[in-house]
Amino acid sequence: MEYIILPNNLKMPIVGYGTYKVSDEVEGKKAILNAVKAGYRLFDTAQQYGNEKLVGEALAESGVPREELFITTKLHFKTFDNPVPKLEESFKNLQTDYLDLVIIHWPYGDYYKAYKVLEDYYKKGKIKAIGVSNFDPARLVDLIKNCEIKPMVNQIEVNIYCQRKEELKWYKKYGVPVEAYSPLGHGSQPELLQEKTLIRIAKAHDKTPAQIAIRYIVQQGIPVIPKSGNENRIKENFDVLDFSLTEEEMNDIALLDKKAPIVGRSEDPFVVERLYDKKD
Ligand code: A2P
Repeated sequence: MEYIILPNNLKMPIVGYGTYKVSDEVEGKKAILNAVKAGYRLFDTAQQYGNEKLVGEALAESGVPREELFITTKLHFKTFDNPVPKLEESFKNLQTDYLDLVIIHWPYGDYYKAYKVLEDYYKKGKIKAIGVSNFDPARLVDLIKNCEIKPMVNQIEVNIYCQRKEELKWYKKYGVPVEAYSPLGHGSQPELLQEKTLIRIAKAHDKTPAQIAIRYIVQQGIPVIPKSGNENRIKENFDVLDFSLTEEEMNDIALLDKKAPIVGRSEDPFVVERLYDKKD
């Protein structure tokens, strides 16, 4: 298992299991247990996913000691006016008295107020690391200028079509590590895994295009949280730490960047509307 060290020295596994849409009582639990069996120890959920309880139950059932797990959840932006009750619910749902990482899911509503709550929980030791998600550089810089404890993670979409090269410079300048969600393009861009460059490099390393796409991100020191419901693909996505891409291969993959997020930029009004209209 490889880790990255967060700014507060907390160790965070570099490959984690994303649970967005993992919500089926039976299949979802099975998938999480398969992930544990494959070796994943970081599990990423969110209040908005509606599956914290399921994640909590599966992790309890797995029998892995709590201290070996790294559990992340995200505050729902619709609770930012009064985040404490829902946050307390997250502890209950996830069957734990501390969380490893809690982040602001979207930079909407009164996220400054919600972030202060996270700072309080962090100071009390109830949350080991705090951070944000979907923050574009301008929002992140502004939050840093107005908060006491700098975010320790910004979780954003990163994949070969959305490489964020310019944005990464800002996050680096401010010392905020990036965590990559949708490293395989969310399933809505099947052509991503059919890129000739990925297929060629995959053959050279006896790996799959998905493993190359994930390795490309991990090799930049960026943790990833791929998600899959399929047992073999769950294993496959974890098995990316025993080889390295050459500099030439890294450069070839860099050329595939379309600078196009699939989930959308948080500054896009359509994204804001969609999230407010969503029933959750
Ligand atoms: P499935 O659950 O059937 O495996 P992302 O993590 O980028 O959001 O991508 C998740 C999507 O990619 C899901 O649709 C998932 O489908 C699919 N997926 C996950 N792992 C792999 C893989 N190793 N090869 C191909 N598709 C994958």
